[in-house]
Amino acid sequence: MTEYPVVRPLSRGWIISSEPLGPESKLTLNFPGCLRLRVKLTGARPDTKYIIGLNAYGADLPVLGGARRLAFDPVPSLVGGLRGAAVSQYRLGTLRTGAIGKGRFKRWLPVEPGTYELQAWVATAAAGGLYQICYQSGQRFGDAERITVPPYAVRPSPRLVQRVIRPVVEAARARADLWRLTRRFPELRRFRGLAASCRETLRPCRDEYVSTISTDVMAISLELGASLLVLCELLKPQRILDLGSGFSSVVFRRYMLDARPEPAVCTVDDSPDWLEKTRGFLASHSLPTSDLVTWDSFLQQGRGSFDLVLYDLFGPMQLRIAALPRALQLARAGRIIVLDDIDREIYGPYARRLVKQSRMPSYSLRLLTRDSFGRYALLIEARQEVSASTLLSSGPERPAPAGPEDDDG
Ligand SMILES: C[S@@+](CC[C@H](N)C(=O)[O-])C[C@H]1O[C@@H](n2cnc3c(N)ncnc32)[C@H](O)[C@@H]1O
Repeated sequence: MTEYPVVRPLSRGWIISSEPLGPESKLTLNFPGCLRLRVKLTGARPDTKYIIGLNAYGADLPVLGGARRLAFDPVPSLVGGLRGAAVSQYRLGTLRTGAIGKGRFKRWLPVEPGTYELQAWVATAAAGGLYQICYQSGQRFGDAERITVPPYAVRPSPRLVQRVIRPVVEAARARADLWRLTRRFPELRRFRGLAASCRETLRPCRDEYVSTISTDVMAISLELGASLLVLCELLKPQRILDLGSGFSSVVFRRYMLDARPEPAVCTVDDSPDWLEKTRGFLASHSLPTSDLVTWDSFLQQGRGSFDLVLYDLFGPMQLRIAALPRALQLARAGRIIVLDDIDREIYGPYARRLVKQSRMPSYSLRLLTRDSFGRYALLIEARQEVSASTLLSSGPERPAPAGPEDDDG
């Protein structure tokens, strides 16, 4: 059994051996209820961004402690200490050194219990996306640390799960999902760059909306608004469905005004009062006010399917849960549905489970849409073959609790 903490000095790397490195540079692996990795750099290049990574030898693990595998080599040619062992390579994050070349990096790795051969590495990025490994734990490639992660005899405390494990897993899922999303929709490669400028375009109008008509927590976030605008600009939907009127209606109708051919935008609300408030705000900004309908009349009208659906309808989460199966049927196959508030405690897991059961691919938009309240969205690729019976047979595992928290959107 491994005695924690495990401390290994860093040495000059197997690709670049000329980078400066102080003697106190080290890797520390510890296990305070969950595997934790720390890298300390001293005497390195000042004000430099380094990539921190990990090699796992002898195992074929596509994901390790929430980190997605970068590369896998079943028969590496460079292995010294572990001849012939397969290598999985993971990128954990980045570290920036300060003015005197010092820097620290910490990452929780919620790995399954078992034995691992791990070697940390530190790299600079080179042209063509290559990593130049300039430091490593151990002396050479393959000189790994063999550690045992014990079975979790004690369940991690809810605080550890809530404060540490869940955010680590969610952040890793978000990074992996963004990568999957741009592979599935290559048009979205420019997403991040465009979102930054769209945020600035929308900011004044959102500030006005949340200070004169609605509230910061009820309106979609600036981050989601910008992401929706970018999705529109890159995917060019012709039929847009805005479920839950408000600032989202402003975003879609701004796009409607500029796009050619002009897309159709239908805005729906369960509340006639909020529909009228939205109409007033749109009119005051000279934005189109056509096709604003109540949820009941929308359902009666049989409007067919859409290219882009935003589902942000109903303040109370019980109602949002109840109508979600219907909302998931409103997009054309191959087109997208965006669910806001996927971070919400009961709604989020329920929505993910329903989407998974319906075999619709989904992608966390946490990296692009997370706001100061911690809210973020999920993007779903619609599948036509989803039958109503599949969707309707999967109600939430437990009813959403009633209470004041149910009223914030
Ligand atoms: C989460 S909100 C929808 C927000 C909308 N998509 C937006 O971007 O502003 C869900 C529903 O709550 C209602 N609503 C909107 N703003 C509200 C507010 N400030 N207070 C109470 N209810 C509100 C509307 O009926 C709306 O459809």
